[in-house]
Parts: sequence; structure tokens; C-alpha cells
Amino acid sequence: MNAAIKRRAFLAASALLAASTRFPAFAASKVAASEEHERRARGLIAQMSLAEKLGQMTQLAGGRQKALNSRIDDAALDRVRQGRVGSYLHVAGAEPLARLQRVAVEESRLGIPLLFAMDVVHGYRTIMPVPLGMAASFDPELARRAARVAAVEASVSGLHWTFAPMIDIARDARWGRVVEGAGEDPYLGSRMAEAQILGFQTDDLANKDVLLACAKHFGAYGAADGGRDYDRADISNETLHEVYLPPFQAAIAAGSGSFMTAFNELNGVPTTGNADLVRSLLRDQWGYQGLVVSDWNAILELVAHGAASDPVEAAALALRAGVDMDMTSETYADHLEKALAADQTLLPLVDEAVSRILHAKAGLGLFDDPFRFGEAEREKLVLGSQEHRAVAREAATRSIVLLRNEGKFLPLRSDARIALIGALADDASSTIGSWRARGQMDESITLRAALESRTVTYAPGVSPRDPDTSGIAAAVEAARNADVVLLVMGEDFDHSGEARSRSDIGLPGPQKELVDAIRATGKPIVAILMNGRPLALEEVLDGIPAVLETWFLGNESGPAIADVLFGEVSPAGRLPMGMPRRIGQVPQYYAHPPTGRPANPDLSKDSARYHDADIGPLFPFGHGLSYAEFRYSDLSVVPQGKGGSLAWKIAATVTNTSARDAEEVVQLYIRAPLAGLARPVKELRGFARLAIPAGDARRVTFTLDPEHFAVWRGGWQILPGSVEIMVGASSEDIRLHGRLENPEARAVGPGEIAGAARLTTVTVA
Ligand code: NOJ
Repeated sequence: MNAAIKRRAFLAASALLAASTRFPAFAASKVAASEEHERRARGLIAQMSLAEKLGQMTQLAGGRQKALNSRIDDAALDRVRQGRVGSYLHVAGAEPLARLQRVAVEESRLGIPLLFAMDVVHGYRTIMPVPLGMAASFDPELARRAARVAAVEASVSGLHWTFAPMIDIARDARWGRVVEGAGEDPYLGSRMAEAQILGFQTDDLANKDVLLACAKHFGAYGAADGGRDYDRADISNETLHEVYLPPFQAAIAAGSGSFMTAFNELNGVPTTGNADLVRSLLRDQWGYQGLVVSDWNAILELVAHGAASDPVEAAALALRAGVDMDMTSETYADHLEKALAADQTLLPLVDEAVSRILHAKAGLGLFDDPFRFGEAEREKLVLGSQEHRAVAREAATRSIVLLRNEGKFLPLRSDARIALIGALADDASSTIGSWRARGQMDESITLRAALESRTVTYAPGVSPRDPDTSGIAAAVEAARNADVVLLVMGEDFDHSGEARSRSDIGLPGPQKELVDAIRATGKPIVAILMNGRPLALEEVLDGIPAVLETWFLGNESGPAIADVLFGEVSPAGRLPMGMPRRIGQVPQYYAHPPTGRPANPDLSKDSARYHDADIGPLFPFGHGLSYAEFRYSDLSVVPQGKGGSLAWKIAATVTNTSARDAEEVVQLYIRAPLAGLARPVKELRGFARLAIPAGDARRVTFTLDPEHFAVWRGGWQILPGSVEIMVGASSEDIRLHGRLENPEARAVGPGEIAGAARLTTVTVA
């Protein structure tokens, strides 16, 4: 990147920050059904047969993830004509979807438009970093812009609805779906949730180029036992409300048009049949008005859970719980009629569900113009445009985390002779992750391709899936002839994702052997990690001076990594989930209460730790290094009267004491009043990614209200007492300590957002 352009972009980023840390709330009036929509929904429902109602409540697969539209045959079209389907997933393309929509609106009795859906998770054609990587940017505004790009591309291709964002908190890296979320922390998770929703939907679904968002998987899918996908979650109500639910509350506040229920069960009740969770909590208490869809086949799976004895009972359970739309199991379509015949009280629930589906369609403007989405001509121009690639590049660069940099080993000298080793260095398919929508691997730039113009010898060595070690000799030879080895290691895209839980989160395949052989050459190594989850690599990384975490960064993967390696950009990503030393430590998370016998380095003392591992993670939550150095100073904690209630302004000065422009992620942690409870030692309640020119300083101010440190005790409670304030560069690198005294004791009102879901206002001067 040209230095002047880089400098301008840097200053623009720093000026924008204050504005970008607060999102406009999604106006309630836009979420609430307009009278016209309501009249239309009622009118249609009055005319609909039961089969047509159940049709609206049915979503079918129009193809497969890798063969979109492949199931739209004559029989499928007939079903659309009969009004016996309300939505399709795994479909795409402006022209094919316009043809399909035409059948629905012109050839079915009531002409109700279809909803077209897809998992557009981290890009549609232009592929961005996987969500865990994007969370590492600690930059919600960037996540919003990345989701915006995805919405522009997908909507121009005829899609209305994405099954994203995935906002499940995850504290067990064995769970393969860690890659899809924002990691272990509910505050960061809430910010990433609302950012993506605003990116997909903007502040009004009537705008152009939007996608209906879907907050998933409600409510504790990420708490699956042992990190096994689909497994039960058995957690306390406190943990549920304080840790797993906040991103969902934030999603409602941001206006998420839909929610998806999780596959798994929570404390003995499968979520898809959980009326306490969906109907009582989500709808009645939180006032959520949007559409609720099941996960794939999950209504029928209520039988496998043992919660329903047959599909008829399963259909009734899901409907009673508040699930409006059945994704693919056809249990509503095939069995709800029988359930209704046995229990007339279900009938109004069918009308409610249909009404919410019709409202979603109306909110997207589909009754006014069913062909609003999908523009064949623009599709050609927009998909993968230069403008979108620029966002992908920025996102990739900002998601990289420098985990270790002993002796300022990085950045590399531009004339260094490099051995690039590891099959992942040239694995274009892995750069685009597992939810690749219509991403093309030949549009991705690998690290190998990005380094082509430099003095580089490439040797794949081994691959993560192939037991063959015959390539190690050539890799060792390449290392011997180089000044420095870039050793790319980790997982391929298919080691994480749905149903990709792993019992061992070390390096898959023979990669450890390769690392040992290269280490034995004595050449300095930069470990470049690619993975969809934190890996347990203490032993593997032993003695390696520099370590970069690069996730799966999308189409611009290679150039972004190269920019960081050669110092074009100073890295500023932070871990959204701590990296364990070894597998036996998981689940592990920073926001843990201290226990009565906190972990003690002295093994002769009995304490809460493993005897055979050092204490804590290898790299903690929030950790990430920079090529610059920053000094933190002048913490002030000033109480404010705010509209009659209390608030505190917490300010700190961060000075870039180095000679290079760089960014720093300032993190605010609290410890809530103890009041007889064992509270986590730290909880994130604010952060700001600051661009600070060399030698310059910024003063960052966070505003906290009592609701920010409320605790869940059968309801949100504000407890009086002393709140510890910690400001620092990671959860284990606290630079400034303070305290505030909260005199208030009260229950938080039903309409107020408390805990991690509550946004902390940040200003920067
Ligand atoms: C199952 C996954 O759990 C969910 O996240 C996804 O949206 C659906 N399949 C549809 O692909």
C-alpha cells in the first residue's frame, strides 16, 4: 500500500471511531407491524385454507448447499402453485429466483410471495473472514460493513433472508461451531450481533439491498456438553441469562427480523419445543415480534430427543413453543392437521404463526413488489466488485492477531530469504471457510500467491489431512537455505463448522512432525496459524519466536497476512476466545469466579488448577500484540447524574510511545459488587479500537450505568457496593485499576437492557 494512502486511511479510521462505536437503534416503529401489513395479513389469513396456512409455515430446501436450486423441479413448482410452501433455502440467483417467484405470485391462488433464504454467514461471493476471525477485529463497525457487502451481493442475487448472524457464546473449543460465532464473551458477542444485523438489514427493511437477519441459535446451543455438537446444555439460569442470552437481547434491540431455535435441549427441554424459552421469555417478556424458524429438521427431531412420541406430538409441541416456520422437516405440513383436530386450542396459534410470516414478507416489501430483490444485470457488476474486495482486504487485515513476537522478530525485512512451508499456505479452499455461500476458491489469494514476487521457496511439507510425511525432507531443505521460515499450520476449513467437534484440538495430521523437523534446523520460525477454533498448541509453539493467528480470512487472505508480516500494517486484532495450553483445560474462560482456592503457582498448595499444566490459557481472551508500544495513564472514574439516575464516566489516556502509527484495542473490564455472590474476576463492558499516530495520544471515555453491572438472580438486580474497574490491553494485561461506589439497589425494569447486552457508549478525543 502506498504510504500516503495508508496514512490517510489511518487518520480517517481514527476520526471515524467515535462515531462508529454507537449504532442507531432500530426504530421500534419499523419493527412493529404497520397497520397496512396487519390488514393485509388478516385479509389473507381469512381467505386461506388450512393447507395454505401450513404451506406458509413450511420452508423447503430448493437444493443443497453445494448444488443450489437443484431440487426446483416440476413437482416443486406444482407445490408452489398449490400454495403449499412459504419459503425456500439453498436457492440463489436473480434469474432462477425471479422465475420461481413468478410461479408463486402469478400461478398460486392467493399469490403470496415466497421467502428465499441462504446461510450468508461471512460473505456471499466476496468472502470475508470467518465470524470468529471477524470478532478478533474488535471492530463492530467493520463487521457491519462486511455484513452490508454480503447483503448487497445476496439481495441482488434474489435472496431475502440470511441465517446469520450466529451469536452463540462458546467456551469450549472442541465445539466445531466456535468458528461461526464471536467467541467466549457475551459483551463482545452482543456488539458483533447487533453490528451484523444492522449490516444485513440497515435500519429499515424497506431500504434497498437488505437481507432479513436471523439471530441463531436461540438460546444456549454453544453450551453443548463436552463441546459435542447438538448435545444438551445443562446450565444454571444465572449462566443462561448472563452469558448465553445477552447477544440475543442485543439482536432484538438491533431489530433482527427473525430468530432460529437451536437443535439442542436446555436443562431437559429441547429448544424447538421449549415454550418457557420461546413463547414466555422471547415473546412475552422480551416482546419479540419477529418470525421464529426452527433449525433444519429440528421439529421432527423432537421425537428423537424423546420429547414427543410421534411427529403429530412434535408438531404440536413446536407450535405451542412458538416456532412459526418449520425448516425442512415438513412436520407442520404433514402432521399439524391431525394435532389440530385433537386440540382446537392450537388453531389460533397457527394463525399467529402465519401472520408473523406474512409480516416478514410485507416488511421486506414483497407484497408491493415481489421482484424487488434480484437484479440480473446488477448481479454481474456487484458480485465480487473491487469495492467489496477492498472491504474484504480491510477485514482480513484487521482480524489478524499477533500472539507472540519475541525480540521484535516481526515485521520481516523485505529482503529476507523465505521458506514458506505447510500445505495450508496454498489452500485456497480453506481461505473461504465452510459457510462459503457462492464464494469461489479461485477468487481467493493464498499466502503463497501473495508472496510470489518475493524471494520465497515453497514446500508444502505435509497437509493436515494426509498421513503422508514424504514431503518433510524437501521442507527441511528449503528451511536450511532460508533466513526465516514461515510455517503455516492448523486446521483446514472442514475441521471446524457444524458437526465438526473434535476431542483433540492439537494439530491434525502429521503437522507436529513437520514442526519438529523444521525446528530442528535451528532456523527462526514464524508460526502462521490457520484454524476455525482456538487450538491447544503450547508444546507445538514452544521456542517459536513469532506467532500469528490468521483464522480463515476470506478472499484477501494472502495479501492481508503479507501486509502484517512485512510491516505494511501493524496488527491489532485480539483473541475473542482464549487459547488453551492443552485440551484438558477446556472449557476455560476468563470471566470465571475466583473459587475459594484460586489457582496457585505453588504446587504444594491445594488450589483450583491442574497439576500437570501451567495456570490459565496460553494466550488469554483479548490478547494481541502490536508493532508499536502503548502507555496507559490517567484513569479517572467520575460519577454523573444522568436523567436522575447514576452513571459513571471512566476515562483513560493511551499514548503511542513508538515511532509508527498503529492501532490499540483498549478494553474495559468490571467486577460487579460482590454482595454475598462469587462474581467473575473480570467481565468485559467496553472496548475501543483506537488508531493512534506515532507519538500521539487519545483519551477514551466509557460511560457505565448501574445496569451494566447488574447480576441475574431470578431477574436482573442492581446490587449496591463497590465495582472494580480495570482498563487494559487484554483480560490478563490490566494497566489501570479504579473503583466506583454504587449506592443503588433495585430490580431492573422489564424494558431495560442489563448486563453484557447493554451497549457502553465510547467517545474518543
Ligand atoms: C443447520 C444449521 O444449524 C443452521 O445454522 C443453518 O442455518 C441451517 N442448517 C440451514 O443451512
